[in-house]
Amino acid sequence: MRCAVFASGGGSNFQVLAEQLEQSPAEIVLLISNNSTSGAMQRAQKLGIPAVHISGRTHPDSREYTAALTALMKEYNVDTILLAGYMKRLPADLIAACPERILNIHPALLPAFGGRGMYGIHIHRAVIDAGVKKTGVTVHFVNEEYDRGRIITQVPVPVYTDDTPEKLAQRVLAVEHDTYWRVVDRLARGHSLHD
Ligand code: GRF
Repeated sequence: MRCAVFASGGGSNFQVLAEQLEQSPAEIVLLISNNSTSGAMQRAQKLGIPAVHISGRTHPDSREYTAALTALMKEYNVDTILLAGYMKRLPADLIAACPERILNIHPALLPAFGGRGMYGIHIHRAVIDAGVKKTGVTVHFVNEEYDRGRIITQVPVPVYTDDTPEKLAQRVLAVEHDTYWRVVDRLARGHSLHD
């Protein structure tokens, strides 16, 4: 399985995917980032993984943007897209062309704490404000409805009374790191994706 990771930020999930999947039939062959100075881009350089910056700035015309992304997927023979902290919406045409071949990881138990405005620290703040005792990690397929694609796996994470959004974010991120590559590895080995 030839995977492209799409990441906008720090890229810790990207790095774990690249490292943990080294012995897997799933291979990370490309990083796409919409942020040329992202940690993810820097990590790709260190890992020796080809990285391409492509965004609304490099491609202001949305059709050209979609065409450029599609051409990159072809060039690198990508059959699976892994979103890992990717803050830009994927073009609808690309999503339609890859049914159940685009995955995302979300740092909460979807459908709770998903959708508009639910990204980064906002999610963990909302979880604490809601007073829930449990949050977690969701890996799901991406469809045209934001954060609404079929759920592949969910891993719960406890919320403690003295949690701050930052502390909770760290605990959830550690679980993300332990979860995403295992799902991708199972997918590549043709194992059942459900627990
Ligand atoms: C992760 O929490 C991921 O679930 C979310 O954005 C964060 C990205 O972190 N969508 P990193 O860039 O992988 O360090």
